[in-house]
Amino acid sequence: MSASLIYRNAAVYGVLMRVLYGRHYRARFRAIAAEVPPGSEVLDLCCGPATLYTRHLRGRGVDYHGLDLNERFVADVINAGGRGEVWDLHADTPLPAVDVVLMQASLYHFLPDPAPILDRMLAAARQRVIIAEPIRNLATSDNRVLAALGKRYTDAGDGARAHRFTEQSLDELFAAHRHRVLEQRLIAGGREKMFVLAA
Ligand SMILES: C[S@@+](CC[C@H](N)C(=O)[O-])C[C@H]1O[C@@H](n2cnc3c(N)ncnc32)[C@H](O)[C@@H]1O
Repeated sequence: MSASLIYRNAAVYGVLMRVLYGRHYRARFRAIAAEVPPGSEVLDLCCGPATLYTRHLRGRGVDYHGLDLNERFVADVINAGGRGEVWDLHADTPLPAVDVVLMQASLYHFLPDPAPILDRMLAAARQRVIIAEPIRNLATSDNRVLAALGKRYTDAGDGARAHRFTEQSLDELFAAHRHRVLEQRLIAGGREKMFVLAA
């Protein structure tokens, strides 16, 4: 299965995520949603098919705005009742100002230099920035099926194979912002690490 097929179809993408995260699939979204104040204005970068919105934020009066390179995912956001825009986050267009700017499982797309996107998120947020990123490298799993899926999952979707974070490299990135860190913890059974930063 090609990476572009994974990203093209929300159903295929959803199944892949469930396989990769197993019983921790919902917990990864729940952990982020718990840090979003009800009724706030939220910008979700690399939002994918808007599962965070439809399953966890829509019912809490959140004004949700999802940005993604993939127009099919953006269409899913709009169909679900959120605001969605096709947006290449490698372009340094300023982000709209909102209460909460978040990104889940996508910071690796900005390696080897993720600091500028983090700075842009902090510049756009009025209250807080939330980032959760995988730190367990499924691509090197002993399970051959999981390893193959993990390699596809970390493909940028544009044919470019992305690098990945370890817990140490993620900690090093956020060390530069340690005075802003309100919370940091492992989520989704230790598969991702979440950081909540004051804007
Ligand atoms: C692993 S998925 C994560 C989706 C969602 N945040 C989640 O946790 O389920 C990565 C997402 O990043 C998007 N993406 C990759 N490169 C991008 C870029 N340069 N600009 C905007 N979105 C990008 C992909 O289209 C995909 O939806």
